[in-house]
Amino acid sequence: MKFFIDTANLDQIKEAQDLGVLDGVTTNPSLMAKEGVKGKNNILKHYVDICNIVDGDVSAEVIATDFEGMVREGEELAELHDQIVVKIPMIKEGVKALKYFTDHGIRTNCTLVFSAGQALLAAKAGATYVSPFIGRLDDISTDGLELIADIRLIYDNYGFETQILAASIRHTMHIINCAKIGADVMTGPLSSIEGLLKHPLTDSGLKQFLEDYKKGN
Ligand code: G3P
Repeated sequence: MKFFIDTANLDQIKEAQDLGVLDGVTTNPSLMAKEGVKGKNNILKHYVDICNIVDGDVSAEVIATDFEGMVREGEELAELHDQIVVKIPMIKEGVKALKYFTDHGIRTNCTLVFSAGQALLAAKAGATYVSPFIGRLDDISTDGLELIADIRLIYDNYGFETQILAASIRHTMHIINCAKIGADVMTGPLSSIEGLLKHPLTDSGLKQFLEDYKKGN
């Protein structure tokens, strides 16, 4: 399972990279705005800064919602760095853009996916990644994990190579359950990754070991 961090915060990206388990980064316009990154040139520079911190894929989202605009923006983003994956929303024009980028060898991440049917379309259009937002489904009393399981089943039935990127991860149990189902990738905040570290028996066990060492030395 690949671990992506879902943020545009450079310090957090560095921290996750230093942990040694980071495979990539996902961003979106809201996450960029949260970091105060505004204006086209600053946004493009920020993507390059992120690529220079991590070794893996960095999803950069288009703002246009029409086919021509998505193609124009996506090609510009893809030219920034070979780690860039163009993030395209799951709308009708987006499906056309996914197919265009597939045909032109540009990698894509189909975002804002909330149903198995949408995920099937993304795979048919050749998306590199599909991003079902499980936390936002949970928010409206719909089981996000069930969607991951459905997509896994459908993709395995037909051998689709699109990678399931479980997004809108909110906590460690989302990660663990996505791993059990077989999501290819998860993207979540640093807190969800670091949360995997924690166990009170680890802390008390280590405390005891260190105390016993001190007694004998
Ligand atoms: O990767 C998708 C993500 O950015 C959305 O997360 O927490 O805003 O639902 P959230």
